[in-house]
Amino acid sequence: MSNIGFVIGEGNLHRLLFLIFDRLAIHNKTRRETILEIKQTYALITGANRGLGKAIATALAEKAYNLLLVARSDEELAELSENLIKLYGIKVNFLAADLSLSSTPAQVLSWVESNHFQVSILINNAGYGIWGEFSSLPLSNQLEMCQLNMETVVSLCYLFKPLLLKSAPSYILNVSSTAAYQAVPTFALYAASKSFILSFSRAIRFELKKTNISVSCISPGPIDTGFAGRAGLDPFSKMAKKFNMNPEEVARIAINGMFAKKAEIIPGIVNIISAYATRWLPKAFIEKTAAGIYKD
Ligand SMILES: NC(=O)c1ccc[n+]([C@@H]2O[C@H](COP(=O)([O-])OP(=O)(O)OC[C@H]3O[C@@H](n4cnc5c(N)ncnc54)[C@H](OP(=O)(O)O)[C@@H]3O)[C@@H](O)[C@H]2O)c1
Repeated sequence: MSNIGFVIGEGNLHRLLFLIFDRLAIHNKTRRETILEIKQTYALITGANRGLGKAIATALAEKAYNLLLVARSDEELAELSENLIKLYGIKVNFLAADLSLSSTPAQVLSWVESNHFQVSILINNAGYGIWGEFSSLPLSNQLEMCQLNMETVVSLCYLFKPLLLKSAPSYILNVSSTAAYQAVPTFALYAASKSFILSFSRAIRFELKKTNISVSCISPGPIDTGFAGRAGLDPFSKMAKKFNMNPEEVARIAINGMFAKKAEIIPGIVNIISAYATRWLPKAFIEKTAAGIYKD
């Protein structure tokens, strides 16, 4: 007891407290500086002009991050950029480009490098589904979807890794779907493309764990966006309305999960339960149920 009293005597106690507070102050300063440093860099978001991508862009703008927005619709990108600059006083630049072309990821990189944008966040959100039986849909349409949903994501992760290594910390957030957790008849290639994204994201997360780059994958269920319309999913869109989450809520969960460096993010309790149920229930049962949900 007396020993302890001696070590933490009054003078020593003050010294100890000073050291602790000094340490905390340095820690906080470093943290503040790190936050400022990240905010001076850019978050690059694909499919950023509407739906989930727009909600993610807005959520990051609210937190004062500078943005690089990529999608095809020039006018929508211009309008969103102008609004975000006005509302949040951040820097926003955009590139209108078709990411379903295999040459576009290199074009995006060259745009970023020639403008000296320092990217610390890469969000691969652009994607879509095509509903219908695999053998009755045009092959070229399905391959174009695969190019956007998978190969573009792979290329952007690969090409942007050297830039992301330059900012500490850096983040990659890939957008998958709860469709990733099981095979989905009449949505065969879409579900397979999202399984690919989930598996790919987990693998590179592991490979990059000793670097400053954190990789996360978000798997949302139905969201109230233009997705169902583009997929030609009218029956599903009626049913999905009951379970739809709004894009702003999903974006908030996505960003919080990304900054918390989570491996997999599933927004919404129903989606969490259904994703985990696929681990325990027989695959044949799950596939029959999934096929029933998407039935015409
Ligand atoms: N909504 C859902 O129910 C749901 C559920 C799970 C996962 N997801 C995933 O969430 C992501 C976002 O989808 P969303 O729901 O927000 O759908 P959305 O409202 O249709 O938005 C799709 C976004 O991707 C862009 N995009 C589409 N094709 C593109 C191309 N070839 N090149 C560049 N950009 C392209 C679109 O912009 P332009 O058309 O102007 O190019 C738009 O910004 C997708 O990866 C989707 O698979 C959606």
